[in-house]
Amino acid sequence: MNMKQMLLAALIFLPGFAAASGGETLIPLDDMKPNLEDQASLQRGAKTYLNYCMGCHSLKYQRYQRTADDLGIPADLMMEHMVFESSAQIGSLMGNAMSVDNAKQWFGSVPPDLTMYTMLKGGPEYLYTYMRVFYEDKTRPMGVNNLLYENVAMPHPLVELQGLQRKVCKQIPRLADNGGEMRDPLTGDLIMAEQCGDDLIQRGFSPLELVEGTGSLTPEEYDQLIYDLANFLHYTADPSRLERERIGIYVLLFLAFFFVFTWLLGREYTKEQH
Ligand code: HEC
Repeated sequence: MNMKQMLLAALIFLPGFAAASGGETLIPLDDMKPNLEDQASLQRGAKTYLNYCMGCHSLKYQRYQRTADDLGIPADLMMEHMVFESSAQIGSLMGNAMSVDNAKQWFGSVPPDLTMYTMLKGGPEYLYTYMRVFYEDKTRPMGVNNLLYENVAMPHPLVELQGLQRKVCKQIPRLADNGGEMRDPLTGDLIMAEQCGDDLIQRGFSPLELVEGTGSLTPEEYDQLIYDLANFLHYTADPSRLERERIGIYVLLFLAFFFVFTWLLGREYTKEQH
C-alpha cells in the first residue's frame, strides 16, 4: 500500500473501531443522564470515589486543585476530608500508592486508572450498570461476580452499602408463539413460568435479588450513590466539558447577532447590482 491508500484506509476504518469499542455488552446497559450542572451530585460522587475506589484506582490525569475548583469544594476542606494520600498536596495529581506488582499479587490483575474510563466506554452508562450488578459467587476468589464483567477480579467495594445480591429464578409471564403474553382464557390472569439467568435477562428482567437487611442503603439511595459516582467520572473524563458548553452557547448567540449585520451589509453591497 502506498501512503495515500493507507491514509484512506485509516479514514474509513477508524470510525468503525471507535464505534466498536462501545460495542456489545453482556447485559443491556441501564440508562443514566449525566448532569454536570449538578454540583452537589459531583461533590458526593467525588467523596464516594475518594473513599471507596481511590485506594485501588488512581485518577492520575486529574489534580486535586482542579477538582476542588470545578466542584466548588474549598481547598482546605478537600485536603482535610477527601485526600488520604499522606504525601499529596492540593496541586498533586490524584495518584495512589498501589504498585503494579502488589496489585498483580493481590488481585491477579491491575486496577486500571479511571480518569478517562467513561469516555473509553462511550459514556457513564457502563460504569453505572457495572456498579449495580455485583452478585454473590462463592466460586470466585473475592466471593462475588459481575453480570456485566464476567469473572471480574475486583471485590465489591460497596457491598456494605448496597447489600448482597444473589442470582435467583423468577416467575414471569409466559410468552405465546406469537410473542404476546399468555393469559388464562377463563380468568384473564397472566400465565406465569419460572425463568432463570440469561432467559430472564433476555426478557428484560434482572436475575438478581437483594438479600434483605444486608445493606445499609435502600435500593433508591444506592442507585443515587452510583449515579453520583458515574456523574463524577463523567466529569473527570473531560473536565472542560462544562465550560466548553457554556462558551459554546455564547458563540452561537454571537453568531446569531453578527448574522444580522452581515446580512444588512450584504444587502447594501448588492443593492446597486439590480
Ligand atoms: C480492592 C481494590 C479495588 C477497589 C477498592 C475498587 N476496585 Fe475496581 N477494580 C479492581 C481490580 C483488581 C480490577 C480489575 C478487574 C479485572 O480485570 O478483572 C477492577 C476493575 C474495575 C473496573 C472495570 C475496568 C474494566 O476493565 O472495564 C471498574 C469500572 C472499576 N473497577 C470501578 C471501581 C469503582 C467505581 C470503585 C469504587 C467504588 C472500585 N472500582 C473499587 C480493584 C478495586
